[in-house]
Amino acid sequence: MTTPSRPTILVTGGAGFIGSHTAHQLRARGYPVVVFDRLSNASCPAGLVEPFVRADLSDANALDAAITDHQVQAVIHFAASIEVGESVRDPLSYYQNNVAGSLALLAAMQRHGLCHLVFSSTAAVYGNTSVPLIPENAPLAPTSPYGQSKATVERILADQTAAAGLNATALRYFNAAGAAPEWALGERHQPETHLIPLVIQAARGQRDHIAVFGQDYPTPDGTCIRDYIHVKDLAEAHILALEALLEGRHDGYRALNLGTGQGASVRQVIDAVRSEALHRGDRDFPVKDEARRPGDPARLVADASAALVELGWRPRYSDLASIVSDAYRFFAEAPDKAPNKA
Ligand SMILES: NC(=O)c1ccc[n+]([C@@H]2O[C@H](COP(=O)([O-])OP(=O)(O)OC[C@H]3O[C@@H](n4cnc5c(N)ncnc54)[C@H](O)[C@@H]3O)[C@@H](O)[C@H]2O)c1
Repeated sequence: MTTPSRPTILVTGGAGFIGSHTAHQLRARGYPVVVFDRLSNASCPAGLVEPFVRADLSDANALDAAITDHQVQAVIHFAASIEVGESVRDPLSYYQNNVAGSLALLAAMQRHGLCHLVFSSTAAVYGNTSVPLIPENAPLAPTSPYGQSKATVERILADQTAAAGLNATALRYFNAAGAAPEWALGERHQPETHLIPLVIQAARGQRDHIAVFGQDYPTPDGTCIRDYIHVKDLAEAHILALEALLEGRHDGYRALNLGTGQGASVRQVIDAVRSEALHRGDRDFPVKDEARRPGDPARLVADASAALVELGWRPRYSDLASIVSDAYRFFAEAPDKAPNKA
């Protein structure tokens, strides 16, 4: 019996950290993939999946051509501006890129009759909350233009699914981390704001020290707790969400959290990186206690039980030691590749 051919998937932001891992995993499963990315913050252009269209979401002609030329049948939409602090300083550019960019993509999908979309949302839609495990029905109360831009796109998706036959799943991920060094893929944001790569840079002598912002939070060691999820597990969840749409098991709009439900503190992350560094013969590094940053919640951990039930998803790589070990190996093996700038 021959395997039926798989539909072609457009991956916007497919040169970025999470998009590139997902594009590779899709291709490994036999899906033809078209990457659409402007390369403004590409984490690992070395690992680019072909065919690759270098263009901006605002370019309707480029979107039309990518969809038509490659007979795209479904879309996974990662492309966005992603830095919370920058969004506070420059909200217009975040609403322009994340909201208007998504509108442009949805319009292109509508022009071409495409009705399956998986969208990168974020835990930032919840804002500051004190519940131990955050469920999807927690109130959306983003505290930054970045989080608000994602919540706004989710609202648009809900409206568009009701009006126009779109089927869309928004995946709200907590802290993406880890790497796939076997594919030369990893995290390399510019500027880097994510804790694990920052600590690895300190261990590799690329920064003087690592700062711990706040030591008196109501957590066991006084530092903030976040839910780290391995990028390979995230990629797997996107493929499961896509297949649920393509096979008609999911329709309409839904939002699902992606996390482990575990959480690790800043000090636990630092300890895990230190242990990996010393194991590899790298240096110990100074840790400096600094004041709390305004707006940092003490604890953000997902209730991801809905994704487990609805997608049959099981994180396999997301224990902290595996995340740190893969991320470290990526940095050790691809030390000086700078991200591409548009
Ligand atoms: N990294 C995390 O911890 C995290 C957590 C929650 C949600 N997310 C979401 O996941 C998605 C991917 O995040 P990432 O960490 O891989 O970021 P990334 O910056 O590595 O990747 C984003 C990619 O999108 C591209 N892009 C941005 N705007 C574009 C546009 N207008 N047209 C074409 N390409 C464009 C960039 O060039 C980049 O390659 C984002 O939507 C982000 O909001 C990330």
